[in-house]
Amino acid sequence: MPDPIIYLDNAATSWPKPDCVGEAMVDFLTHRAGNPGRGGHRLAREASLVLEQARDRLTKLVHAPCPQRMILTHGCTDALNLAIHGVLRADIRTRCDGTKPHVVTTAIEHNAVLRTLHCYTTSGLIDMTIVPCDEQGFVHADALIEACNECTVLLTLSHASNVLGTIQPIKETIRTIREQYPDMLIMVDAAQTAGHFEIDVQDWDIDLLPIAGHKGLRGPTGTGALYVSPRAYPDDCDKSRVFCERRGGTGSMAPGLEMPTKLPDALEAGTSNAVGFAGLIAAIDALTHEVHEHEMEMTDRVLKGLHEIEGVTIYGLPSIKGRTPVVLFNIEGAHPREVMAKLDAEHGIAVRGGVHCAPLLHEAIGTGSDGGVRVSPGSGTTAEQIDCFLDAIRAMAVQHA
Ligand code: ALA
Repeated sequence: MPDPIIYLDNAATSWPKPDCVGEAMVDFLTHRAGNPGRGGHRLAREASLVLEQARDRLTKLVHAPCPQRMILTHGCTDALNLAIHGVLRADIRTRCDGTKPHVVTTAIEHNAVLRTLHCYTTSGLIDMTIVPCDEQGFVHADALIEACNECTVLLTLSHASNVLGTIQPIKETIRTIREQYPDMLIMVDAAQTAGHFEIDVQDWDIDLLPIAGHKGLRGPTGTGALYVSPRAYPDDCDKSRVFCERRGGTGSMAPGLEMPTKLPDALEAGTSNAVGFAGLIAAIDALTHEVHEHEMEMTDRVLKGLHEIEGVTIYGLPSIKGRTPVVLFNIEGAHPREVMAKLDAEHGIAVRGGVHCAPLLHEAIGTGSDGGVRVSPGSGTTAEQIDCFLDAIRAMAVQHA
């Protein structure tokens, strides 16, 4: 196995993390690792402070109105589950007209959304419409509107595909949908964009925004968040449209058996991953515009290099314009998993091959159950590493010609 590794799988999880992330986590475990919100002692207070700082950083990052609306979670899938189960359970508990709630989702979604919704459709609890995407991975606003009806309680759309990297024009899409459905809850999955691109939940009128801490933000795994809008969870908690079935200790209102009704505690039972959030704070503080520019420059090098190799098919948008630092391709005659395995075993290059937990997107672009090879450069990627990767692909394309 060649050493060192050339890591081009940052869309799965970013690596290496900035040094300050590990340092902050060690510092937390060594000096401040009480249970946040539990106990009045110094270590508990210091751990609480870490959570409040993380909440604050994330609030500013996506321009949320206040930190209480930023629910800290164990990752983006956890946040998506909280949102989807929360909205559907709230609706099912109160609906009494014999109709079923309806959900609109899209072909670009990750299994974190699709599988979570699937358990409701198979048990007949909801109706669902899946809106297709075009070849470049765009989902059109008029198709989304056409899919909605008076029973639609949730529309969920990814900000960017984890497979193609295509970024949806979210602000314009939501504005168009709101003209007809002003009160419908709209969730935008920011797994692949938080940290890479500007997001403004108020200006874009987003109700639920799940965030991953370990991808574009370069924090540790096991960290994430869910922004919850006043439309989804009004200050008058009795009108909440998100019902949390996960119950437990919050450190507040401990004598009662009811969950607190105020955010964030209403949706945040159990001990948080405070050590992870200590790392995430450091990661967010280390984010710069230069980091993003570098990732896009490396992605441009990948795209231009692959375009020149005969036998290689690139999917999605033609250039880096409108995409995250992600490129999907295939080598004619080579199975994507074989390409991934060879890159790893013979060149020490880490990419992801297959369907990337987004089976409907692969159906839509014609790559089916074989999928494709995804390259995702990161902040630590160098031009020399990209050139090594391109040399390896060139050699494989010749072998399969
Ligand atoms: N969702 C992650 C990916 O796209 C794991 O690879």
